[in-house]
Amino acid sequence: MENKRALVAFFSRAGENFFPGGMRYIEKGNTHIAAEILAELTNADLFEIKSKVEYSAVYKECVAQSISEYKGNMRPELKENIDISDYDIIFLGYPNWCGTMPMPVWTFLESHDFAGKVVCPFCTNEGSGLANSLSDIDKLIPGANRKAGLSLKGSRVQESKSEFEKWLTEIS
Ligand SMILES: Cc1cc2nc3c(=O)[nH]c(=O)nc-3n(C[C@H](O)[C@H](O)[C@H](O)COP(=O)(O)O)c2cc1C
Repeated sequence: MENKRALVAFFSRAGENFFPGGMRYIEKGNTHIAAEILAELTNADLFEIKSKVEYSAVYKECVAQSISEYKGNMRPELKENIDISDYDIIFLGYPNWCGTMPMPVWTFLESHDFAGKVVCPFCTNEGSGLANSLSDIDKLIPGANRKAGLSLKGSRVQESKSEFEKWLTEIS
């Protein structure tokens, strides 16, 4: 994979979040931290998928927002997008929100043609794993070569380098 051009596209949210032992306010989201570790390991570019309308920094409010967007099958408008045509490999990072990806990730996937590209999903979560995210991704990127996903414990992403290394070997 080393000679191919790689992009790490990720969604992440700062603010109040659930951690073992209680809620914590974080300045940088777990998936953001993981994405930076992966980008450094793979020499990839980084792109943050951001919704135009921001999510609440209050955990409970954000959960309500995410459920309403999922139930409404919404596609929140993105703040900005990126031309992915020059990238062969796209690492896609996102938190597990109520069993799948946050809806801006759906917007992102639908806004590009992934046919012929290698897509490698990684998902941070507090125990639910990848849940429905892989089957949802498969519906949104026809023709892509989607690799096995990696689930990372959100509250331990600082230690995810070795998990990424193992996964990169497995999927290459
Ligand atoms: C709206 C919302 C819904 C969540 N739903 C789940 C869930 O269903 N299962 C789970 O294990 N963790 C869930 N979490 C926890 C996050 O997946 C986890 O903390 C993740 O690492 C957050 O990544 P981020 O900081 O990059 O946004 C949820 C968090 C939020 C804010």
